[in-house]
Amino acid sequence: MARLLITGGAGFIGSHTCVVLLNAGHDLVIVDSFANSSPIATARVANISGLTPNQEKERLVIIEGDIRDEGALSSIFENATKQNQPIEGVIHLAGLKSVMESITQPLKYWDVNVNGSRCLLSIMEAHNCRTIVFSSSATIYGNPESFPIAEVDPIQPINPYGATKAAVESMLSNLQGNKAIWHIACLRYFNPVGAHPSGLIGEDPKNIPNNLFPLVCQVAIDRRKLLNVFGGDWPTPDGTCIRDYIHIMDLAEGHLAAINSLLRKESNYLTLNIGTGKGYSVLEIINEFEKTSGEKIAYKIVNRRDGDTAISLADPSQANKKISWRATRNIEDICRDSWNWQRLNPTGFTMDKVI
Ligand code: UFG
Repeated sequence: MARLLITGGAGFIGSHTCVVLLNAGHDLVIVDSFANSSPIATARVANISGLTPNQEKERLVIIEGDIRDEGALSSIFENATKQNQPIEGVIHLAGLKSVMESITQPLKYWDVNVNGSRCLLSIMEAHNCRTIVFSSSATIYGNPESFPIAEVDPIQPINPYGATKAAVESMLSNLQGNKAIWHIACLRYFNPVGAHPSGLIGEDPKNIPNNLFPLVCQVAIDRRKLLNVFGGDWPTPDGTCIRDYIHIMDLAEGHLAAINSLLRKESNYLTLNIGTGKGYSVLEIINEFEKTSGEKIAYKIVNRRDGDTAISLADPSQANKKISWRATRNIEDICRDSWNWQRLNPTGFTMDKVI
Protein backbone atom coordinates (compact mmCIF):
# COMPACT_ATOMS: atom_id res chain seq x y z
CA MET A 1 0.00 0.00 0.00
CA ALA A 2 1.25 3.47 -0.78
CA ARG A 3 0.96 7.06 0.34
CA LEU A 4 -0.67 9.01 -2.48
CA LEU A 5 -1.27 12.68 -3.18
CA ILE A 6 -4.74 13.40 -4.60
CA THR A 7 -5.02 16.84 -6.18
CA GLY A 8 -8.65 17.97 -6.30
CA GLY A 9 -9.50 15.19 -3.86
CA ALA A 10 -12.57 16.98 -2.46
CA GLY A 11 -14.37 17.25 -5.81
CA PHE A 12 -16.94 14.96 -7.37
CA ILE A 13 -14.45 12.53 -8.90
CA GLY A 14 -11.91 13.09 -6.11
CA SER A 15 -14.18 12.28 -3.18
CA HIS A 16 -15.40 9.00 -4.71
CA THR A 17 -11.87 8.06 -5.74
CA CYS A 18 -10.63 8.70 -2.17
CA VAL A 19 -13.27 6.32 -0.78
CA VAL A 20 -12.12 3.55 -3.13
CA LEU A 21 -8.38 4.19 -2.48
CA LEU A 22 -8.82 4.25 1.32
CA ASN A 23 -10.84 1.07 1.17
CA ALA A 24 -8.00 -0.56 -0.78
CA GLY A 25 -5.54 0.40 1.99
CA HIS A 26 -3.78 3.44 0.48
CA ASP A 27 -3.00 6.45 2.69
CA LEU A 28 -3.94 9.80 1.22
CA VAL A 29 -2.92 13.42 1.25
CA ILE A 30 -5.52 15.62 -0.45
CA VAL A 31 -4.65 19.03 -1.80
CA ASP A 32 -7.69 21.03 -2.87
CA SER A 33 -8.35 24.74 -3.27
CA PHE A 34 -12.06 24.21 -2.46
CA ALA A 35 -12.79 26.64 -5.31
CA ASN A 36 -15.34 24.20 -6.68
CA SER A 37 -15.71 21.70 -3.84
CA SER A 38 -16.62 21.46 -0.16
CA PRO A 39 -14.68 20.37 2.95
CA ILE A 40 -17.90 18.59 3.97
CA ALA A 41 -17.18 16.10 1.18
CA THR A 42 -13.86 15.06 2.74
CA ALA A 43 -15.48 14.70 6.19
CA ARG A 44 -18.02 12.38 4.59
CA VAL A 45 -15.27 10.42 2.83
CA ALA A 46 -13.78 9.73 6.30
CA ASN A 47 -17.23 8.74 7.56
CA ILE A 48 -17.96 6.34 4.66
CA SER A 49 -14.50 4.82 5.07
CA GLY A 50 -15.09 4.24 8.80
CA LEU A 51 -11.92 6.09 9.83
CA THR A 52 -11.53 6.86 13.54
CA PRO A 53 -10.23 10.38 14.33
CA ASN A 54 -6.74 8.92 14.89
CA GLN A 55 -6.79 6.95 11.65
CA GLU A 56 -8.04 10.05 9.87
CA LYS A 57 -4.97 12.02 11.02
CA GLU A 58 -2.70 9.39 9.47
CA ARG A 59 -4.67 8.19 6.46
CA LEU A 60 -6.55 11.21 5.17
CA VAL A 61 -4.56 14.42 5.46
CA ILE A 62 -6.34 17.43 3.96
CA ILE A 63 -4.46 20.52 2.83
CA GLU A 64 -6.14 23.59 1.40
CA GLY A 65 -3.92 24.77 -1.43
CA ASP A 66 -3.51 25.51 -5.09
CA ILE A 67 -1.48 23.31 -7.43
CA ARG A 68 0.11 26.45 -8.90
CA ASP A 69 1.67 27.19 -5.50
CA GLU A 70 5.03 25.42 -5.87
CA GLY A 71 6.06 26.25 -2.29
CA ALA A 72 2.93 24.65 -0.86
CA LEU A 73 3.33 21.56 -3.04
CA SER A 74 6.99 21.24 -2.09
CA SER A 75 6.12 21.33 1.62
CA ILE A 76 3.63 18.49 1.13
CA PHE A 77 6.33 16.26 -0.38
CA GLU A 78 8.94 17.34 2.20
CA ASN A 79 6.65 16.77 5.20
CA ALA A 80 5.65 13.34 3.93
CA THR A 81 9.33 12.38 3.52
CA LYS A 82 10.17 13.71 7.02
CA GLN A 83 7.42 11.50 8.43
CA ASN A 84 9.06 8.55 6.69
CA GLN A 85 6.04 8.13 4.47
CA PRO A 86 7.08 9.70 1.18
CA ILE A 87 4.49 10.35 -1.51
CA GLU A 88 4.86 7.43 -3.92
CA GLY A 89 2.28 8.47 -6.49
CA VAL A 90 -0.10 11.24 -7.47
CA ILE A 91 -3.67 11.16 -8.76
CA HIS A 92 -4.04 14.51 -10.46
CA LEU A 93 -7.68 15.60 -10.62
CA ALA A 94 -7.42 19.31 -9.80
CA GLY A 95 -8.57 21.55 -12.63
CA LEU A 96 -11.34 23.61 -14.15
CA LYS A 97 -13.96 21.73 -16.14
CA SER A 98 -16.59 23.97 -17.66
CA VAL A 99 -16.54 23.95 -21.45
CA MET A 100 -18.53 27.20 -21.64
CA GLU A 101 -16.33 29.04 -19.15
CA SER A 102 -13.23 27.85 -20.99
CA ILE A 103 -14.51 29.58 -24.12
CA THR A 104 -15.00 32.92 -22.34
CA GLN A 105 -11.88 32.67 -20.13
CA PRO A 106 -9.34 30.53 -22.02
CA LEU A 107 -6.29 31.96 -20.23
CA LYS A 108 -7.70 30.98 -16.86
CA TYR A 109 -8.01 27.40 -18.17
CA TRP A 110 -4.45 27.35 -19.56
CA ASP A 111 -3.18 28.71 -16.26
CA VAL A 112 -5.00 26.36 -13.86
CA ASN A 113 -5.06 23.21 -16.01
CA VAL A 114 -1.77 23.44 -17.91
CA ASN A 115 0.44 25.66 -15.77
CA GLY A 116 -0.95 23.97 -12.65
CA SER A 117 -0.01 20.55 -14.06
CA ARG A 118 3.46 21.81 -15.01
CA CYS A 119 4.01 23.05 -11.44
CA LEU A 120 2.89 19.74 -10.02
CA LEU A 121 5.12 17.72 -12.38
CA SER A 122 8.18 19.84 -11.64
CA ILE A 123 7.69 19.45 -7.87
CA MET A 124 7.15 15.71 -8.30
CA GLU A 125 10.37 15.47 -10.30
CA ALA A 126 12.28 17.47 -7.67
CA HIS A 127 11.11 15.00 -5.04
CA ASN A 128 11.78 11.93 -7.13
CA CYS A 129 8.13 10.97 -7.42
CA ARG A 130 7.43 9.91 -11.00
CA THR A 131 4.14 8.05 -10.83
CA ILE A 132 0.99 9.89 -11.87
CA VAL A 133 -2.58 9.20 -12.96
CA PHE A 134 -3.97 12.17 -14.87
CA SER A 135 -7.63 13.01 -15.33
CA SER A 136 -8.02 13.54 -19.04
CA SER A 137 -11.29 13.66 -20.92
CA ALA A 138 -13.06 12.21 -23.94
CA THR A 139 -13.62 15.82 -24.97
CA ILE A 140 -10.14 15.76 -26.53
CA TYR A 141 -11.53 13.61 -29.38
CA GLY A 142 -13.69 16.54 -30.56
CA ASN A 143 -16.19 15.40 -33.21
CA PRO A 144 -15.04 11.89 -34.04
CA GLU A 145 -16.04 10.33 -37.34
CA SER A 146 -16.65 6.79 -36.14
CA PHE A 147 -17.81 4.99 -33.00
CA PRO A 148 -16.93 3.60 -30.58
CA ILE A 149 -13.91 5.85 -30.04
CA ALA A 150 -10.56 4.13 -29.55
CA GLU A 151 -7.48 5.66 -27.89
CA VAL A 152 -5.63 5.68 -31.22
CA ASP A 153 -8.29 7.89 -32.83
CA PRO A 154 -7.26 11.48 -33.64
CA ILE A 155 -7.05 14.09 -30.88
CA GLN A 156 -8.82 17.21 -32.12
CA PRO A 157 -10.27 19.27 -29.26
CA ILE A 158 -12.95 21.78 -30.26
CA ASN A 159 -12.90 24.00 -27.16
CA PRO A 160 -10.23 25.48 -24.85
CA TYR A 161 -11.07 23.06 -22.03
CA GLY A 162 -10.36 20.12 -24.34
CA ALA A 163 -7.23 21.85 -25.64
CA THR A 164 -5.84 22.15 -22.10
CA LYS A 165 -6.49 18.45 -21.40
CA ALA A 166 -4.75 17.51 -24.67
CA ALA A 167 -1.84 19.83 -23.80
CA VAL A 168 -1.29 18.14 -20.44
CA GLU A 169 -1.34 14.75 -22.16
CA SER A 170 1.38 16.09 -24.52
CA MET A 171 3.42 17.35 -21.58
CA LEU A 172 3.17 13.95 -19.93
CA SER A 173 4.18 12.12 -23.07
CA ASN A 174 7.21 14.44 -23.41
CA LEU A 175 8.34 13.28 -19.97
CA GLN A 176 8.72 9.81 -21.41
CA GLY A 177 11.61 11.19 -23.47
CA ASN A 178 13.47 11.77 -20.19
CA LYS A 179 16.19 9.44 -19.02
CA ALA A 180 14.43 9.06 -15.70
CA ILE A 181 11.55 6.65 -15.95
CA TRP A 182 8.08 7.98 -15.29
CA HIS A 183 4.99 5.84 -14.77
CA ILE A 184 2.04 7.68 -16.26
CA ALA A 185 -1.63 6.94 -16.93
CA CYS A 186 -3.94 9.33 -18.78
CA LEU A 187 -7.55 8.36 -18.14
CA ARG A 188 -9.94 9.74 -20.72
CA TYR A 189 -13.26 9.94 -18.93
CA PHE A 190 -16.51 9.82 -20.85
CA ASN A 191 -19.54 11.19 -18.88
CA PRO A 192 -19.07 10.63 -15.13
CA VAL A 193 -22.41 10.60 -13.27
CA GLY A 194 -24.10 8.90 -10.30
CA ALA A 195 -23.09 9.03 -6.64
CA HIS A 196 -21.85 6.85 -3.80
CA PRO A 197 -24.66 4.41 -2.88
CA SER A 198 -24.67 5.76 0.71
CA GLY A 199 -25.99 9.09 -0.60
CA LEU A 200 -23.35 10.87 1.50
CA ILE A 201 -21.29 12.18 -1.42
CA GLY A 202 -22.25 13.13 -4.95
CA GLU A 203 -22.03 15.87 -7.54
CA ASP A 204 -22.67 19.35 -6.12
CA PRO A 205 -22.19 22.03 -8.76
CA LYS A 206 -21.60 25.42 -7.10
CA ASN A 207 -23.55 27.43 -9.67
CA ILE A 208 -26.38 26.61 -12.07
CA PRO A 209 -25.41 23.19 -13.46
CA ASN A 210 -24.57 22.73 -17.15
CA ASN A 211 -24.58 18.96 -17.14
CA LEU A 212 -27.52 16.67 -17.74
CA PHE A 213 -27.63 14.61 -14.55
CA PRO A 214 -27.51 17.41 -11.97
CA LEU A 215 -30.20 19.19 -13.97
CA VAL A 216 -32.44 16.12 -14.21
CA CYS A 217 -32.05 15.64 -10.43
CA GLN A 218 -32.90 19.27 -9.74
CA VAL A 219 -36.03 19.09 -11.89
CA ALA A 220 -37.04 15.87 -10.11
CA ILE A 221 -36.73 17.58 -6.71
CA ASP A 222 -38.53 20.73 -7.92
CA ARG A 223 -35.51 23.02 -7.71
CA ARG A 224 -36.07 23.66 -11.41
CA LYS A 225 -39.27 23.60 -13.42
CA LEU A 226 -38.06 22.17 -16.68
CA LEU A 227 -35.18 20.49 -18.44
CA ASN A 228 -34.20 22.00 -21.78
CA VAL A 229 -33.25 19.16 -24.12
CA PHE A 230 -30.66 20.56 -26.50
CA GLY A 231 -31.75 19.51 -29.97
CA GLY A 232 -34.26 16.96 -31.24
CA ASP A 233 -32.83 16.80 -34.74
CA TRP A 234 -29.48 15.10 -34.20
CA PRO A 235 -28.61 12.14 -36.45
CA THR A 236 -29.54 9.59 -33.76
CA PRO A 237 -32.54 7.21 -33.52
CA ASP A 238 -34.66 9.60 -31.37
CA GLY A 239 -33.00 12.84 -32.48
CA THR A 240 -31.31 13.58 -29.11
CA CYS A 241 -27.58 13.25 -28.33
CA ILE A 242 -26.08 9.96 -27.21
CA ARG A 243 -23.48 9.78 -24.42
CA ASP A 244 -21.54 7.08 -22.62
CA TYR A 245 -22.53 7.69 -18.97
CA ILE A 246 -20.23 6.07 -16.46
CA HIS A 247 -21.04 5.53 -12.78
CA ILE A 248 -18.70 7.55 -10.60
CA MET A 249 -17.84 4.46 -8.51
CA ASP A 250 -16.77 2.60 -11.66
CA LEU A 251 -14.63 5.61 -12.57
CA ALA A 252 -13.15 5.67 -9.05
CA GLU A 253 -12.29 1.99 -9.37
CA GLY A 254 -10.60 2.80 -12.68
CA HIS A 255 -8.24 5.14 -10.80
CA LEU A 256 -7.42 2.44 -8.27
CA ALA A 257 -6.69 -0.08 -11.03
CA ALA A 258 -4.50 2.45 -12.86
CA ILE A 259 -2.43 3.60 -9.87
CA ASN A 260 -1.94 0.03 -8.66
CA SER A 261 -0.75 -1.02 -12.10
CA LEU A 262 1.71 1.90 -12.22
CA LEU A 263 2.97 1.24 -8.68
CA ARG A 264 3.58 -2.39 -9.66
CA LYS A 265 5.53 -0.96 -12.62
CA GLU A 266 3.54 -3.05 -15.09
CA SER A 267 3.81 -0.29 -17.67
CA ASN A 268 5.38 3.13 -18.13
CA TYR A 269 2.67 4.86 -20.11
CA LEU A 270 -1.03 4.14 -20.32
CA THR A 271 -3.67 6.05 -22.27
CA LEU A 272 -7.08 4.60 -21.51
CA ASN A 273 -10.69 5.36 -22.29
CA ILE A 274 -12.82 5.11 -19.16
CA GLY A 275 -16.36 4.51 -20.32
CA THR A 276 -18.88 1.70 -20.58
CA GLY A 277 -19.16 1.23 -24.33
CA LYS A 278 -22.94 1.65 -24.06
CA GLY A 279 -24.69 4.86 -25.12
CA TYR A 280 -27.98 6.47 -24.03
CA SER A 281 -29.84 9.36 -25.62
CA VAL A 282 -31.09 12.29 -23.54
CA LEU A 283 -34.69 11.04 -23.89
CA GLU A 284 -33.64 7.54 -22.80
CA ILE A 285 -31.99 9.04 -19.71
CA ILE A 286 -35.16 10.99 -18.85
CA ASN A 287 -37.16 7.79 -19.25
CA GLU A 288 -34.78 5.68 -17.11
CA PHE A 289 -34.65 8.36 -14.43
CA GLU A 290 -38.43 8.60 -14.26
CA LYS A 291 -38.72 4.80 -13.95
CA THR A 292 -36.10 4.57 -11.19
CA SER A 293 -37.14 7.62 -9.17
CA GLY A 294 -40.88 7.56 -9.74
CA GLU A 295 -40.64 11.32 -10.41
CA LYS A 296 -41.82 13.06 -13.56
CA ILE A 297 -39.16 15.03 -15.46
CA ALA A 298 -40.76 17.94 -17.31
CA TYR A 299 -38.78 18.77 -20.44
CA LYS A 300 -38.89 20.81 -23.59
CA ILE A 301 -36.89 20.27 -26.79
CA VAL A 302 -35.01 23.45 -27.63
CA ASN A 303 -32.24 24.40 -30.07
CA ARG A 304 -28.96 22.53 -30.14
CA ARG A 305 -26.28 23.74 -27.70
CA ASP A 306 -23.10 25.15 -29.25
CA GLY A 307 -20.19 22.75 -29.01
CA ASP A 308 -22.30 19.58 -28.58
CA THR A 309 -21.63 16.50 -30.66
CA ALA A 310 -24.25 13.91 -31.67
CA ILE A 311 -22.57 10.85 -30.21
CA SER A 312 -19.83 10.12 -27.70
CA LEU A 313 -19.19 6.45 -27.05
CA ALA A 314 -16.08 4.72 -25.70
CA ASP A 315 -14.30 1.61 -26.76
CA PRO A 316 -13.16 0.70 -23.22
CA SER A 317 -11.42 -2.56 -24.21
CA GLN A 318 -7.86 -1.27 -23.64
CA ALA A 319 -8.61 -0.53 -19.97
CA ASN A 320 -9.84 -4.07 -19.60
CA LYS A 321 -6.76 -5.46 -21.32
CA LYS A 322 -4.13 -3.26 -19.65
CA ILE A 323 -5.42 -2.74 -16.09
CA SER A 324 -8.18 -5.40 -15.87
CA TRP A 325 -10.83 -2.76 -15.32
CA ARG A 326 -14.33 -2.54 -16.67
CA ALA A 327 -17.51 -0.77 -15.62
CA THR A 328 -19.86 -3.06 -13.68
CA ARG A 329 -22.74 -0.67 -12.89
CA ASN A 330 -25.62 0.01 -15.26
CA ILE A 331 -27.90 2.94 -16.05
CA GLU A 332 -30.40 1.89 -13.39
CA ASP A 333 -27.64 2.00 -10.73
CA ILE A 334 -26.66 5.43 -12.03
CA CYS A 335 -30.20 6.83 -11.85
CA ARG A 336 -30.91 5.25 -8.45
CA ASP A 337 -27.70 6.55 -6.83
CA SER A 338 -28.01 10.04 -8.39
CA TRP A 339 -31.57 10.34 -7.14
CA ASN A 340 -30.67 8.98 -3.67
CA TRP A 341 -27.92 11.63 -3.35
CA GLN A 342 -30.24 14.40 -4.51
CA ARG A 343 -33.09 13.32 -2.21
CA LEU A 344 -30.86 13.13 0.85
CA ASN A 345 -29.04 16.40 0.03
CA PRO A 346 -31.58 18.60 -1.74
CA THR A 347 -29.21 21.59 -1.67
CA GLY A 348 -25.93 19.67 -1.92
CA PHE A 349 -23.29 19.88 0.80
CA THR A 350 -24.39 23.30 2.02
CA MET A 351 -27.65 22.78 3.81
CA ASP A 352 -28.50 26.48 3.92
CA LYS A 353 -27.53 27.19 0.33
CA VAL A 354 -29.86 29.63 -1.41
CA ILE A 355 -31.22 28.04 -4.58
N1 UFG B 1 -28.11 18.21 -22.22
C1 UFG B 1 -29.38 18.67 -22.42
N2 UFG B 1 -29.84 19.64 -21.59
C2 UFG B 1 -29.09 20.16 -20.56
C3 UFG B 1 -27.77 19.67 -20.38
C4 UFG B 1 -27.32 18.70 -21.23
O1 UFG B 1 -30.09 18.23 -23.32
O2 UFG B 1 -29.59 21.06 -19.87
C5 UFG B 1 -27.59 17.18 -23.13
C6 UFG B 1 -26.39 17.65 -23.92
O3 UFG B 1 -26.79 18.29 -25.09
C7 UFG B 1 -25.67 16.32 -24.16
C8 UFG B 1 -26.03 15.47 -22.96
O4 UFG B 1 -27.15 16.08 -22.36
O5 UFG B 1 -26.22 15.71 -25.27
C9 UFG B 1 -24.90 15.41 -21.94
O6 UFG B 1 -24.51 16.72 -21.63
P1 UFG B 1 -23.54 17.06 -20.42
O7 UFG B 1 -23.43 18.54 -20.35
O8 UFG B 1 -23.99 16.35 -19.19
O9 UFG B 1 -22.18 16.39 -20.85
P2 UFG B 1 -21.28 16.63 -22.16
O10 UFG B 1 -21.36 15.37 -22.94
O11 UFG B 1 -21.62 17.86 -22.85
O12 UFG B 1 -19.86 16.90 -21.52
C10 UFG B 1 -19.32 16.03 -20.58
C11 UFG B 1 -18.55 16.84 -19.54
C12 UFG B 1 -17.35 17.50 -20.14
C13 UFG B 1 -16.52 16.50 -20.85
C14 UFG B 1 -17.33 15.73 -21.84
C15 UFG B 1 -16.52 14.60 -22.40
O13 UFG B 1 -19.40 17.81 -18.98
O14 UFG B 1 -16.59 18.07 -19.11
O15 UFG B 1 -18.47 15.15 -21.22
O16 UFG B 1 -16.94 14.28 -23.66
F1 UFG B 1 -15.52 17.11 -21.48
